[in-house]
Amino acid sequence: MGPSPSAGPSIHFPGNVFSVELCYLFLVIVASHFPTSTSSDIFHCLTNLLPEVRCQVTETENKYAITTTKLTKQFGSLTAVDCIDISIGRGEVFGLLGPNGAGKTTTISMLATLLKPTSGKAYVDGYDITAQKVAVRSSIGLVFQDPSSDEELTAEENMDFHGRLYSVPKSVRKKRIPELLSMVDLADRSGDRVKTFSGGMKRRLEIARGFLHHPAVLFLDEPTSGLDPQTRRRIWEHIQLLNSERDVTVLLTTHSMEEADFLCGRIAIMDHGKIIALGSPGELKNGLGGDLISIETENNDKLLLLLAGADWTGKPRILDGRVNITVTEGESKIPELIRLTEGAGIDIKSVTLKKPTLEDVFIHHTGRAIRAEAGSTVDRMRQRRRAFGR
Ligand SMILES: Nc1ncnc2c1ncn2[C@@H]1O[C@H](COP(=O)(O)OP(=O)(O)O)[C@@H](O)[C@H]1O
Ligand SMILES: [Mg+2]
Repeated sequence: MGPSPSAGPSIHFPGNVFSVELCYLFLVIVASHFPTSTSSDIFHCLTNLLPEVRCQVTETENKYAITTTKLTKQFGSLTAVDCIDISIGRGEVFGLLGPNGAGKTTTISMLATLLKPTSGKAYVDGYDITAQKVAVRSSIGLVFQDPSSDEELTAEENMDFHGRLYSVPKSVRKKRIPELLSMVDLADRSGDRVKTFSGGMKRRLEIARGFLHHPAVLFLDEPTSGLDPQTRRRIWEHIQLLNSERDVTVLLTTHSMEEADFLCGRIAIMDHGKIIALGSPGELKNGLGGDLISIETENNDKLLLLLAGADWTGKPRILDGRVNITVTEGESKIPELIRLTEGAGIDIKSVTLKKPTLEDVFIHHTGRAIRAEAGSTVDRMRQRRRAFGR
């Protein structure tokens, strides 16, 4: 991937590449053959188009809503995002899943043109995130990790203000604002000030606001963190509805396996700035090669040694005081495991069998759990603020 090398900006039609100058000349000739009003429309269209034409974009970059090539961000000596390559198709709900500090917000901030990459390339809706920032910004909606509505304004005023910022015409705002507020169940509160809203209501308002200018791509940074399970589920349903009805590509970040599993068609698992696994939730789980048996004994170290020599277990690991092994057809392996363990004189405290989850996928790739790290002090403060609607 990456832009095709060419002498200057060009416009790609199937099978042909024309210089911008040639296209301009062509359109001027066409426009001159139309009545004045139509030709002025064409000129208007042209002047809007020219500074931000999808110059030097290959068909691949245009086919996807988002592509990144070796996208990297360094803060001093820290590499927050490390050479990531992803391609997200139009209409997908794609998740960046990882613990705090994995580099999720930094990735979204670069794609939304708020942060300049240190190196690498990325295209959003066919536009280059460094060379065509204005076009990228008009193609995206962004819902920040932290609350961003104006507390003193009403829900409707917040929406209207956002619409004006994005030059959504008044007639369109008048139609879309009530429509979107009712989609997120806030129609009856549209005239109330946001400071009277709960954390979940504010989040729903922010998500609706992100859709107002009909972006091609919507970025949601931790859309439900800190909210109660019922509110989270409602927000998930709204995101699904907006994705399917408005045909918008959604890129969301989360440290919740459950959220990624429920919402995302595909997931990239991030850790320390790198993508360590990518696929649909099913593919990622199946990639582990079977079911997970977790056994707690009086002597886990001895059992680990014993299992390392057995040919029917995947790589055994000790986590949280239990020995975890991956096996195919877990039910049938439990009797054998019990025989082996008791035969070696090791007392068993408990045995559990479960189908793999995304948490297990993360453990498999990193040797540790996401959950244990999911709450830095800042994150906990953030979650509390959101839960209490502040
Ligand atoms: N502006 C910044 N300056 C310095 N370090 C930063 C800055 N923003 C983020 N970081 C660091 O980059 C890493 C990734 O952060 P972030 O993208 O916010 O992670 P996530 O969203 O996955 O929790 C963290 O170690 C964080 O401390
Ligand atoms: Mg973040």
